[in-house]
Amino acid sequence: MVKQKVTRIGVLTGGGDCPGLNAVIRGVTKPAQDYGMSVFGILDGFEGLVEGRAKELKNEDVSGILARGGTILGSSNKGDPFHWPVQKDTGIEIVDKSSSALKNYNAWNLDALIAIGGDGTMHICKKLGDMGMNLIGVPKTIDNDLDATDVTFGHDSAVYVVATSLDRLHTTASSHHRVIVMEVMGRYAGWIALNGGLAGGADIILIPEIPFSWEKIYDKILKRELMGKRFSLVCVAEGAKPLDGQMTVKGEDIKRHDPIQLGGVGEVVAKKIEDNTGRETRVTVLGHLQRGGSPTPFDRILSTKFGVVAIELAVQRKFGRMVALKGAEIKNVRIEDAISKQKLVKPDTQALIAAKAIGISLGE
Ligand code: F6P
Repeated sequence: MVKQKVTRIGVLTGGGDCPGLNAVIRGVTKPAQDYGMSVFGILDGFEGLVEGRAKELKNEDVSGILARGGTILGSSNKGDPFHWPVQKDTGIEIVDKSSSALKNYNAWNLDALIAIGGDGTMHICKKLGDMGMNLIGVPKTIDNDLDATDVTFGHDSAVYVVATSLDRLHTTASSHHRVIVMEVMGRYAGWIALNGGLAGGADIILIPEIPFSWEKIYDKILKRELMGKRFSLVCVAEGAKPLDGQMTVKGEDIKRHDPIQLGGVGEVVAKKIEDNTGRETRVTVLGHLQRGGSPTPFDRILSTKFGVVAIELAVQRKFGRMVALKGAEIKNVRIEDAISKQKLVKPDTQALIAAKAIGISLGE
């Protein structure tokens, strides 16, 4: 059977942004032109696919964007074609707009679509693939919670921000003999808090996978004082919860795939520490600083490799696959396998074992 040549390819960035998205777009677009393909950048994630908004990308459009944060295409985490919010007099109604997505894909005459995104994006890719579109996934997220790849790009850049922020908090906390609680992102996974806390020398790291005991936190702070350390740094993941409580939810947004918006645990932890130890405590919420700005060299390299391998998959017509880092190599896995498992910190995670071995408290 003669295989049809891939000549027109779409690329989009879905979900929350992270450093390295532009490096992937560049990694896709440059080699694609050498293969004689036209590349169409779909604007604002799946929103652009549903609404028919795209522009052709040439070398000059992707030149000089390697180190730039964000995405030149725009992104959205409210554009799920299967869960499309429509404002009605009675409130927001959720409808299925996947037929519009398919219509535009066909109207643009695309042979394949490369979707760069996290878990939500990969779920959408699977469903669009079932409708007959040719999808290739590229895994991104600062949260690093996709099991099918050793690491997602964006994570290293977020960890860098967390570590360097802890370095800064270290000097002010020690000068004022204070406790400083720093809240970081990560949703239901503790990777950012664990890796960032380890790299930044936190004294206490609280993650969603290990519900914490309040008493253990107070003990650690007071024991450090007995050793002459009159300050402590606590790195708390937004999804962390006490043994006797729930995650701290800031709000809900039904327009999104996962409506839960986490946030606020840093304030809760700081207040408890101050009330129960009498030690002056301050809070820093890192928020979107973890998602913005230039990618680290590690993320630039990983993103570029992901982009280049994604276009090779397209050339070989290997659709329904997601690129993935396995050891030192970029492999590919079935998209449906990629979405079946969330990657969480486990008891045998080496970073966790190392953290405990050097005396960091996990609040256990
Ligand atoms: O998934 C990436 C992430 O930054 C999470 O760590 C965080 O919970 C969420 O997105 C924040 O989303 P938003 O930018 O919509 O507030």
